[in-house]
Amino acid sequence: MVTGLVGRDLISINDFTNEEVECLFHLADEMRLALRQGKQLELCRGRDMATLFYEPSTRTRGSFERAMHKLGGNVVSFAEAKTTSSAAKGETIADTVRVLEHYADIIVIRHPWAGAAQVAADYARVPVINAGDGSHEHPTQTLCDLYTLRKEKGRIKGLTVVLWGDLKHGRTVHSLVYALVRFGAQPLCCTEPDLYPPEALVERLRTDYDHVLKKIEPRDLSSLIGRGDTDALYIAPFRPFQLRLPDLGLSVPIGDTTGWSKAKKVDAVYVTRLQRERMRTMDNGQAKYLALNDGFWEEIKRKKRTLIMHPLPRVDELPYQIDTYPRSVYFEQAANGVPIRMALTALLLGAREMEVSKTRKGTLLYEKAENRCKAAFGVECSNQSCVSRQESERRYIVSAFNILKREPLVVSCIYCDSEAYPQYFASSEWHQGTLENKRYYPAHSFMKARIRAENLVLFGSEEEAQRRGFHPSKHVAQGA
Ligand code: NCD
Repeated sequence: MVTGLVGRDLISINDFTNEEVECLFHLADEMRLALRQGKQLELCRGRDMATLFYEPSTRTRGSFERAMHKLGGNVVSFAEAKTTSSAAKGETIADTVRVLEHYADIIVIRHPWAGAAQVAADYARVPVINAGDGSHEHPTQTLCDLYTLRKEKGRIKGLTVVLWGDLKHGRTVHSLVYALVRFGAQPLCCTEPDLYPPEALVERLRTDYDHVLKKIEPRDLSSLIGRGDTDALYIAPFRPFQLRLPDLGLSVPIGDTTGWSKAKKVDAVYVTRLQRERMRTMDNGQAKYLALNDGFWEEIKRKKRTLIMHPLPRVDELPYQIDTYPRSVYFEQAANGVPIRMALTALLLGAREMEVSKTRKGTLLYEKAENRCKAAFGVECSNQSCVSRQESERRYIVSAFNILKREPLVVSCIYCDSEAYPQYFASSEWHQGTLENKRYYPAHSFMKARIRAENLVLFGSEEEAQRRGFHPSKHVAQGA
């Protein structure tokens, strides 16, 4: 047993083990009680938190700052870092955090680029917390969600949680899906095909957690009626007001009361808004519209046990009428942000200690060390909003990848976890020091099975391979 989280970063929910999350929840209970009793704590007296927010925020920044104040610490706040910090003059993330580490003991960062928090953590010598990086992850929101879910249901294991909305661009659901699976709950993705979680996430769940993420396409739901846990859902005609958005509206009501009743497994419905700001091209130039219709909400109201969750802010996907339903817990999720972030801050700053096992197996850091490729030349992360694709950051960031899948060869970006598809590869240890032996192979060649991750060199093109002194193997010529 060793002492827990002091000095660590929280970039992905997978950076913490389940045991660490449990310990954090335990401390959050204590903080919650202190808040209820109106106590002002002194645990972080004389310590400073920098909140560096390049994107709008109400809950996350507000609750982090309140948390630090309630712990007796101070806050240096950059609420509109995009325009009010030197980022507006072209300063990089690395430089910004290397300056801020002298002004603060802990940095909380929110950024529109996926992977930005990882870069901040790589360069800052103080703990960095990811408060949302592009469409990648939002681990502290997941801590609030999970904590709320457990408070309401008494457990997480065995729960079925329907995830509805923009599961592709919504970072909260990405962290949440990992956490639900790791804690033994069943996430059920229900959205239209364009908005399913990214393939890299689905693949990681499969390889690392042996979990096949269940998906339901609203358009195909009718064929699923009557089958187990999905029999409660089908597509209904659009609501009249949706005629404003012809062809693009989707309504997924719970129309069949019997079916819904049978679906006893649904413990919570986690609704998310359409992340319009992260959508590059809207279909047909029009915004998509997702809505659960009135029938659904009426049915839910009768359930009395299904929680309605939402990370907030809501737009038009969650009607105000549902606020009075006793199992609507979205404002609870937001309120729990304070004790959760108090516990997290106190632990990372070493103001409170906890005993956890030394083993990091099952965490992202562990997996990354196992699967990191040796080098990559001319291979790009597929996510255009990844920090590794931004001109300013490319001055110092080196793209790097972990193996996601060998057949076909797919790697994932170390910053944002998105996929990348190298065209050629080589081994760093096969050429016995002679240039003639430096051979490269096409991505589909079976030879890659013989190379350990730490020796795998990736290339985006033949030119990249040849520029580095590699020669085509006979597999290149044979196209095999
Ligand atoms: C979320 C976010 O910023 O990703 N908000 C939050 O922190 N609670 C959800 C969203 O913006 O839709």
